[in-house]
Amino acid sequence: MVSRVIPVDPFDLVIFGGTGDLARRKILPGLLRRFHAGQMTADSRVIGAARSDLGAEGWRSLIREGIEEFAPALAADRDTLEAFLERLDYVSIDATGDGGWDRLCDLMRPGAVRAFYFSVAPSLFGPLAERLHAHRIADRESRIVVEKPFGRDLASARALNRTLAEHFDESQIYRIDHYLGKETVQNLMAVRFGNLLFEPLWNNHYVDHIQITVAETVGVEGRGDYYDKAGAMRDMVQNHLMQLLCLIAMEPPSRFEADAVRDEKLKVIRALKPVRPHHIVRGQYDGTPSAPSYREEVGNPRSFTETYIALRVEIANWRWSGVPFYLRTGKKLRARHSEIAVVFKDLPHSIFEGDDRPHRNILAIRLQPNEGIDLTVTIKEPGPGGMRLTDVPLDMTFAKALGNGAEDVPDAYERLVMDVIRGNQTLFMRGDEVEAAWAWTDPLIAGWEARNDVPKLYDPGSSGPDDAMMLLHREGRRWRDIRA
Ligand code: BG6
Repeated sequence: MVSRVIPVDPFDLVIFGGTGDLARRKILPGLLRRFHAGQMTADSRVIGAARSDLGAEGWRSLIREGIEEFAPALAADRDTLEAFLERLDYVSIDATGDGGWDRLCDLMRPGAVRAFYFSVAPSLFGPLAERLHAHRIADRESRIVVEKPFGRDLASARALNRTLAEHFDESQIYRIDHYLGKETVQNLMAVRFGNLLFEPLWNNHYVDHIQITVAETVGVEGRGDYYDKAGAMRDMVQNHLMQLLCLIAMEPPSRFEADAVRDEKLKVIRALKPVRPHHIVRGQYDGTPSAPSYREEVGNPRSFTETYIALRVEIANWRWSGVPFYLRTGKKLRARHSEIAVVFKDLPHSIFEGDDRPHRNILAIRLQPNEGIDLTVTIKEPGPGGMRLTDVPLDMTFAKALGNGAEDVPDAYERLVMDVIRGNQTLFMRGDEVEAAWAWTDPLIAGWEARNDVPKLYDPGSSGPDDAMMLLHREGRRWRDIRA
């Protein structure tokens, strides 16, 4: 497979929070890969902006070390790495004062696409946006990129949207949900809308239920301060799982174009029914003799924050009426395993005598790892012994099917940053989408807070609390296994 790389226009990308973890771990290694692939051309530049007085050489060293640590294979090509580091500059800036802004202004080149990445606390979005305008660094063509968490409830998300809107038009604002940049998440749309096969079956006549699982093996990894105030609902469901739900449930947009896609996603979010309390299971990982519990890790012995959540969700529209969507995500689970499984209904009648086991087609879209698609189909068991039926997966692992091309796919951040430069907002969340997601999330959180709901403890390395199993069992269904 030959991958086609189309270079993007020359750009000046300013990363506020340039010395932070995200810049070192994800953004810069991603840009180096795009540089290596020829997509980021040699006349583009990345400017780090942060408080510390590092100087360009200091920032380059920090980034060099980051790439060596987080992308060692990339760092091995020293010539390309050094040529890339040449494209880096740095300005020490005071986000809430005046220091550094004139120098940043001098660094910007006329004619290059200007993008500003706000990899900083949301409280700085306003001061940064204001200064970019006051110093005439940003113009009508500039783009800003903002990270999650985009607020912690509807009121704070609205306030952030209002702040950004004072200085930037919606068409200039790129709200990142890195799940939308994942190759397989985009494949969801390709599978649904690029094949005739699935769409006629994609509704409540044929689909029994849908399961969305995002299981992680990691814990809170030193992010306890943030996580203990967020929990799995705010950290994962309101954004990543919600986006997956939208892509799987939305109506076909008329074009694969930013507003056409986002309009359809918004309709799904607005059609979500409120979730009943007994359709929500919250869990928290316990400790083992050799590993601390969540509460010990975050140093909060009375924490009621959930590190696991399972929900039964319904969408009130013609296509999905009566079809449950089961969502679950958690930390310290048995395996890193994310997938969406569309479970079709049982056959209306079996013509095979003696075959009393139910047979179901299941379309499982594996997001990570081992990206691909499985379609479970029923066939005859090979050999003599009459018509005995068995269910087998038709497995399409993308890496196998696409050869080397699949190894070359950009990671979520590099794809999304290139989309910012290209001016393509399809894979970014619009302000109204984020607000609608919070409008659905807020009452659920308020409900369990009012009930003083205590999360159920689960063993690290398990599939989550037993109550989550019951969520499906009592309706005669079962979760798919979480396995590597
Ligand atoms: C982040 C969450 O948005 O996504 C983390 O804040 C989570 O808690 C991460 O671990 C998962 O992303 P990925 O790409 O590893 O599935």
